[in-house]
Amino acid sequence: MKGLFLTLEGIDGAGKSSHIDALEALFKAEGRQVTRTREPGGTPIAEILRTMILEQPMDPLTESLLVFAARRDHVVRVIEPALARGDVVLCDRFTDATFAYQGAGRGFDPAVLSMLEQWVQGGGRSAGPEALLQPDVTLWFDLAPELAAERLAGARLPDKFESQPVEFFRQVAAGYAQRAAGTSRFLRIDASQSRDQVWQQVEAALAGRGLVASRIGRAS
Ligand code: TMP
Repeated sequence: MKGLFLTLEGIDGAGKSSHIDALEALFKAEGRQVTRTREPGGTPIAEILRTMILEQPMDPLTESLLVFAARRDHVVRVIEPALARGDVVLCDRFTDATFAYQGAGRGFDPAVLSMLEQWVQGGGRSAGPEALLQPDVTLWFDLAPELAAERLAGARLPDKFESQPVEFFRQVAAGYAQRAAGTSRFLRIDASQSRDQVWQQVEAALAGRGLVASRIGRAS
């Protein structure tokens, strides 16, 4: 069976991570092996880098280099082997987050990010665009930054990104919208709805792409 690379994206507070358990169960019910992972992170080295990235102030180039260093280790050790086995890889964030947070949020040069992407997910400078590892499908949990800030307020102790002002998240949200406009792999989920309604949208979006069996007519 062919591997499926599925990522979850959205600004902090959009609620994407709360659907990962259900996504895993959904694909397992379809008889698939599932690898669950996240970025930054997913390997021992990448988890150490995650702590640095989320806790230490640093300039945007350092941050981008660390994010892509963590990603390289993660791609080579976890994502590519899982896809080669035919697994469904459920990855909480991937490179779209780098373009949204470091690119749009921090204002870092997207051309440099594209170069790093080519090195980390492709075969380096000389490889063609077909060599680039990209998600097959990206669930984009879209939520107004003001609503996300309300949801985050009073939650756990905020990390370096979560404690950014709402204006930062406006830019990040615009970055996601721009990424989504350029590709058909994004499935937009209206994350302002209740958790149950959001999950129904997720199931319907995946069924609409033929990635899971349609739930229409099935008892829930
Ligand atoms: P999480 O809270 O969804 O696990 O994400 C961790 C934080 O890291 C989140 O605020 C977004 C940020 N991040 C980046 O800034 N760049 C990246 O490339 C990734 C993957 C995450």
